[in-house]
Amino acid sequence: MCGIFGYCNFLKDKDRKEILEILCNGLARQEYRGYDSAGLGIDGDNPGEIVFFKEVGKVAGLRKRIAESDINTSKTFSSQVSIAHTRWATHGPPSTVNCHPIRSDPSNEFIIVHNGIVTNAAALRQVLQNRGYKFESETDTEAVAILTKYVYDSQPGKRITFPSLVKTVLKELEGSFAFVFKSIHYPNEIVTARRGSPLLIGVKTEKKLKVDFVDVEISGPDDGKAVDGFVPTAPNSRLAPPAPKISRRQSRNYMSEDGMPQPIEFFVASDASAIVEHTKRVLYLEDDDIAHISDGQLHIHRLRRNESGQAETPATRSIETLEIEIAAIMKGKFDHFMQKEIYEQPESVVNTMRGRVIFDDYRITLGGLRSYLPIIRRGRRIVFCACGTSYHSALATQAMFEELTEIPVSVELASDFLDRKTPIFRDDVCVFVSQSGETADTILALRYCLERGALCVGIVNTVGSTISRETHCGIHINAGPEVGVASTKAYTSQYVALVLMALQLSEDRISFTPRRRAIIDGLRELPVQIKKVLELDSTLREFANTLLANQRSLLLMGRGYQHATCLEGALKIKEIAYMHSEGILAGELKHGPLALIDENMPVIIVMTQDSLYPKVQSAFAQITARKAQPIVICNEGDDGIKKGVKTIRLPKTVDVLQGLLNIIPLQLLSYHLAVKNGFDVDCPRNLAKSVTTE
Ligand code: F6R
Repeated sequence: MCGIFGYCNFLKDKDRKEILEILCNGLARQEYRGYDSAGLGIDGDNPGEIVFFKEVGKVAGLRKRIAESDINTSKTFSSQVSIAHTRWATHGPPSTVNCHPIRSDPSNEFIIVHNGIVTNAAALRQVLQNRGYKFESETDTEAVAILTKYVYDSQPGKRITFPSLVKTVLKELEGSFAFVFKSIHYPNEIVTARRGSPLLIGVKTEKKLKVDFVDVEISGPDDGKAVDGFVPTAPNSRLAPPAPKISRRQSRNYMSEDGMPQPIEFFVASDASAIVEHTKRVLYLEDDDIAHISDGQLHIHRLRRNESGQAETPATRSIETLEIEIAAIMKGKFDHFMQKEIYEQPESVVNTMRGRVIFDDYRITLGGLRSYLPIIRRGRRIVFCACGTSYHSALATQAMFEELTEIPVSVELASDFLDRKTPIFRDDVCVFVSQSGETADTILALRYCLERGALCVGIVNTVGSTISRETHCGIHINAGPEVGVASTKAYTSQYVALVLMALQLSEDRISFTPRRRAIIDGLRELPVQIKKVLELDSTLREFANTLLANQRSLLLMGRGYQHATCLEGALKIKEIAYMHSEGILAGELKHGPLALIDENMPVIIVMTQDSLYPKVQSAFAQITARKAQPIVICNEGDDGIKKGVKTIRLPKTVDVLQGLLNIIPLQLLSYHLAVKNGFDVDCPRNLAKSVTTE
């Protein structure tokens, strides 16, 4: 969780107003990652001075605080570095003192912003307190800021370079994190590092860059040596690592083609959406990379080597071109991102299929899986692993996978999968489904399966994310950036991507040809059918404002393919409308939940016409016999439903795809319930988009 943003300009005049605007915009774009407080640290009017602005709540509050301050916004900086943060609290409640940037001491010698959790922060805090250092916040981050000062203070002559200092500090840390460091001892320098949390750097120049990669600098074994005996007792530090060796090419890496230093800007962020309005040229950091920006140059150092002494990752980091458009991260004509993303689904499902489905030939081509198909087909079982909405998309397609591949399929919640230490073997195929590609539980499950030799497949929306990089192969769902915290278009695109995967795996089974063709025909119709479902928006708003207004609870029932629809619909209603809601497998009704039913219990029953229709009809009969008045999600033209029953009528499609249409009214219903109650649709309380902590 949390959004990090850093901004550096070199030989490029920027007044303070512009710098503050860049920082606040960078935070606002990442607000979905955490929004309980926001803060920033910029250079003051005098050398060695840092000014903070911090505010509890959203970035709008931070902007207001800045506007009301008497800071001189016209002061111009030819070169400067500044850092900013939007927080999702883990250690200590939202408050200005816990808000980042966190400082090492009252003179702000080191200030840092942090995403993730330092799991040994309590031990570090204890050791530092024993040495007389004072803490002011409850954050784990403060232990890192003070440790940085401690290491710096322990340096004879204080000659350590900024990246070496940070390297030494990072060696003492456990957990997963991304940091940006700024210091009055290293003016106009910034150091940023990641282990387990995403981080990328945007580069903006007027002239073309001389090269479009950065060498990774692997320094000698003594560089960044751990603080001798620091944890837990010994006070002595003998740090004096040599300055990293910089090759000629590296030291010139950001000069223009004519060899002259050129004005340059760098943007450090947790997410590309914070960078794309400035530049599309970005470099993704790998775990254990330490990036150092100074004098208009970017250098990348590594924290670790593997046992053979070779760097574990490629020797360069390339500067890539972002493929997202600025319009994709703006609300446009919509009131909320969630609403926009619900309405984008006719196009987002097309983007998932684009170039992958040849409708006329009934052919599927998933380039990212091609060379692994024989291994997947030979697999002993397929294990899906995911959290939340992504878990539901796997559940929604489980039966179809089993039918088309004839391989046993299990669907696991990533956190439980790890808690149970699920047995995984070399001939298992493990599929990790994640919108963000950064969910901590899913990443840990992935690493667990990699260690056990299973083939690991990623179904991911975010290009360059940890899951997309660490899996052997996979599918990008191409739904485009999803900003609303409640996942909507990613669900339908994950669902479609999984359908494509099952179709591809079954392509050599002649007996399945009619079934495969029916599904591919259904996929062709899907965008038009989704548009038709979206036309029901005003009816759903009406239901939200009348039938379901002021209710405290809602049950959603269905079976077979529609069980996942009910779970996902209930999750949407819980997370943004703050209303208790439960998805129930209709077959389980008489084993307990039926006791909840009376004339006052609101129920939605999903009764579209698939092979289980008669069984759902009997569940309908059981609940209406107990005076429930359910809203029925059914197919257009279904005249078996009594007059007077409230219905939501949807186009009919092939059974395996019907869940793609059935979920949309539930997304809209949750949206309207939240709007009606005046809740913050895109930033529901206590949540954040990407859950990068366990
Ligand atoms: C619900 C929601 C969450 C996520 C879950 C997994 O609307 O968005 O339940 O689905 O946190 O996130 P990803 O898919 O990024 O791994």
